[in-house]
Amino acid sequence: MHKRTIVQAAVLGALLCASGLGLAQDAFKIGLILPMTGPFASTGKQIEAAARLYMAQNGSTVAGKKVELIVKDDTGTPDVTKRIAQELVVNDKVSVLAGFGLTPLALATAPIATQSKTPLVVMAAATSSITQASPYIVRTSFTLPQAAVAIADWAPKNGIKKVVTLVTDYGPGLDAEKFFKERLQFNGGQVSESLRVPLRNPDFAPFLQKVRDAKPDAVFAFVPSGAGAALMKQFAERGLDKAGIKLIGTGDVTDDDILNSMGDAAVGVVTSHHYSTAHNSAVNKKFVEAFTKANNNLRPNFMAVGGYDGMRVIYEALKKTKGAGGGDALLAAMKGQIFESPRGPMFIDAQTRDVVHNIYIRKVEKQDGQLYNLEFDTIKDVKDPGKVR
Ligand code: PHB
Repeated sequence: MHKRTIVQAAVLGALLCASGLGLAQDAFKIGLILPMTGPFASTGKQIEAAARLYMAQNGSTVAGKKVELIVKDDTGTPDVTKRIAQELVVNDKVSVLAGFGLTPLALATAPIATQSKTPLVVMAAATSSITQASPYIVRTSFTLPQAAVAIADWAPKNGIKKVVTLVTDYGPGLDAEKFFKERLQFNGGQVSESLRVPLRNPDFAPFLQKVRDAKPDAVFAFVPSGAGAALMKQFAERGLDKAGIKLIGTGDVTDDDILNSMGDAAVGVVTSHHYSTAHNSAVNKKFVEAFTKANNNLRPNFMAVGGYDGMRVIYEALKKTKGAGGGDALLAAMKGQIFESPRGPMFIDAQTRDVVHNIYIRKVEKQDGQLYNLEFDTIKDVKDPGKVR
């Protein structure tokens, strides 16, 4: 080879390298941290699938930037979530942190968002106080007080006056218990006993026996997504339904993901929530069809919708900054976004950075051999009651 050719080749190589680097720097990275293994893996699976669907439908170039999704498994352990978030910010230079399958995972990571000025989009966790843990947190999931208050309004109008509450013993469960109880009492009802089951390896049997002995009109339950089937099974096995005790709760209990596996014991259960696979709108029908098709007939649940809408909030924020990004600019562009989600209309409250949406009262019914949460009443534009007090 001539010397000149060698030099030319070297220059060309250096240029290619530089342009390669340039491309890498141009990428807009989203760090999606989820429980992909362990007891809450269904949440991770739903959210990842929804995020990928959003990208497939909307392209992976936004305002001239190549969007790159980096998915990491935190196994549902707060220390791991925090460490991964730190690595994503420092090493990978992600522009946004997203995911957060459980409240403790979001709370552990909040300081990283604040220190690095990185927007943190909570797609799953639902304890009211989360958005107060960092000014960089934006939420597209829901809050337990939003859901719990609605069913506490419905119950006494439908013959349910004396209730025992049964919740998982951590942030969202305590929110559900408190807001349900206060509202039921305000409406003239009464919570005669409040039971709390552990988050890890819950055994519902002894708690349900206590409910049976207390003979309330109903038990109000909150368990995190994924745990509802075990609760329903024990509820039927202990004969609570036959003893005339109704089961009511937030929609986490009759999670669409596992509803079909609950069998006939679930039929007739009334819950309140912001999303049902059966939500009757053109936007949702399109979403459900595309999601099930892309995921081997898996039904999208409320976790999937939180992930899908979270991606939308991130995409639109990047567009508003004309591809420039930057933590503060992205955050500002996330606040106040208003759009139609598969759940119905929603917006991100610019003051609280929390989601405002409809809460629906739903009843489990069988249609064409499958169980669905069919919505029969709507409370419009519900703000988080945990903040407006
Ligand atoms: C939460 O940890 O905040 C959480 C998890 C699952 C749910 C609701 C809330 O279904």
